[in-house]
Amino acid sequence: MPFPEQFLEELEAKNPIDEVVGGYVNLNRRGGRLWGLCPFHNEKTASFSVVPEEGFYYCFGCHKGGGVINFTMEVEGLDYPDAVRFLARRAGLTVPEDEKTASGYRYRQRLWELCRDAARFYHETLKSPEGQSGLQYLLKRGMKPDTIVKFGLGFAPNRWDGLMRAMEEKGYTRKELQDAGLVRTKKRQVQKEDGSITETESCYDWFRNRVMFPIIDVRGSVIGFGGRVMDGSEPKYLNSPESQIFNKRKNLFALNVAKKTKMDMLVLTEGYMDAITMHEYGFDCAVASLGTALTDQQAAMLAKYTKQMVLCYDGDEAGQNAAQRAIGILEKTGVSVKVLKIQGAKDPDEFLHKYGADRFKRLLGMSEDQAVYRLGTIQKKYDVTTDDGRVGFLREAAAFIATMESPVEREVYGGRVAEIAGVRADAVNTEVQQVLRQSRYRKKKQQEKKDLRPAASAQPEVSGIKYENIRSARAEESLLAQIFLEPGLLDKCEGLSPEEMSSPELRKVFSWAMDRWHQGLPVSVAAMRGDFTPEEQSLLIGITQKNQSLTVNEQALTDCIGLIKSEASKRNSKDLMAAVNRRRDHTGYKGGGAL
Ligand code: UTP
Ligand code: MN
Repeated sequence: MPFPEQFLEELEAKNPIDEVVGGYVNLNRRGGRLWGLCPFHNEKTASFSVVPEEGFYYCFGCHKGGGVINFTMEVEGLDYPDAVRFLARRAGLTVPEDEKTASGYRYRQRLWELCRDAARFYHETLKSPEGQSGLQYLLKRGMKPDTIVKFGLGFAPNRWDGLMRAMEEKGYTRKELQDAGLVRTKKRQVQKEDGSITETESCYDWFRNRVMFPIIDVRGSVIGFGGRVMDGSEPKYLNSPESQIFNKRKNLFALNVAKKTKMDMLVLTEGYMDAITMHEYGFDCAVASLGTALTDQQAAMLAKYTKQMVLCYDGDEAGQNAAQRAIGILEKTGVSVKVLKIQGAKDPDEFLHKYGADRFKRLLGMSEDQAVYRLGTIQKKYDVTTDDGRVGFLREAAAFIATMESPVEREVYGGRVAEIAGVRADAVNTEVQQVLRQSRYRKKKQQEKKDLRPAASAQPEVSGIKYENIRSARAEESLLAQIFLEPGLLDKCEGLSPEEMSSPELRKVFSWAMDRWHQGLPVSVAAMRGDFTPEEQSLLIGITQKNQSLTVNEQALTDCIGLIKSEASKRNSKDLMAAVNRRRDHTGYKGGGAL
């Protein structure tokens, strides 16, 4: 454990969860809890709750839960140690770090400083005679000098050691330069005159003769760079390699600026230049991904700052396919997604230079919502000038409209479909109603099946966690719920070994609780902190919330233990049989036997 327990207790005492959460969410007391709109998913009625006395939060809608550190991790996008440091600063406490973590953090801080100094060096070079080709390139592309300053753009000199020398003069080591991804080392074998071979190492700048785009994270630290060539050579953009401070799946270009926008949306583009040009033309809500497809982590970050995402990808097929995939990823976070179709230019950068801000604004106002976009994609599959095509289109479009929740929406989009197919609106409506009837019937059948097999609905609602053995997992859940209500019951669990539990997550919680009990430490959900992932914490809080009205009694506990043990021994004998069968196959024995 990186931080001492006592310090964490003080940290939590000085950062009451209702106070910290209250800084982000409007909370109102109702019953024994405080309620508010969940900051982690889009909702209109409050299902997010805080229990200050027990030091945790739980959302009954999206099933996220945890203590104050976990909340800070989620809401500020920090990892565990950084969330602890964040709260420590908030409460004016000094963090007693053990030397290893402290030095890890100090080292990352050093790399951030190095990258900032490198950005300054590239920027100064751009303004110097050596950087004239870079500056002319940017100006020729229509970029204003203000924009160059605002985004700290720069130029990497056309030399092997331009940056390396400048940074070493400032006191940075070769290793630091390598770890920040700014310098590369190559081993070379050289044959000497006497025929023997020696290995030499040569170091050189990663970025040379390129226009430089610093990549800055949401907290304002320079973490990496993208560098563009000025002619047609390859690769067009060279990016910093992944490092201790640079992860391109977890960051977005320009989000540090766009997060402060007054516009009620964020626009996601594909390229650095697209995002920068949008800012230059007054659309300060633009961000860009870092040369990869949109990731879940990036979607989660975006959802923290906006309820409305607009996708503005290139107009070509690759761009449109990428947009299609991004819709799915963003929708999972609960934000609304619109797709902007760029026509008459290949990307937003080109569009703005060609047609100006007003036309872009109109395009933004008109940006299609995803329903229109989906209908467009369906339409493309059919030739609606033929009867066959119309029927196919109608069928598929009706199936899509039937998935809409609101009757008003169904009517509006049904009308559009009718227009496209050239049929009357009630014809579309009849088709939609039929799909709805069918799907209701299917749902009813499914529900009936589910009712017969209640186990299927007992899977946890936390993403990424699945029970292998539902029967055992339910007993494990019930056991843990009782333990967290009354930790003294752990004395009665000595006969149960963690290995006997079927769910790895619940097993981990149980053995953690047992350890703490033996050490005389408090066992509570709030104390789970950094030993568990946010998902594991959510799972456990969900379990205690589901079982709030549970009455603790020893018999129930004994029953749970009995069930877990019997499921475990079934598992063991299955494993044994599998092992025996493997051996048989191995010896070529094929006949039947007692086993
Ligand atoms: P594009 O090729 O669409 O470039 O790449 P662009 O943004 O329009 O750039 P300009 O206008 O020609 O200057 C989109 C993004 O993909 C990544 C970069 O992040 C770029 O902004 N990319 C592209 C690379 O990482 N490497 C490449 O070689 C090309
Ligand atoms: Mn471009």
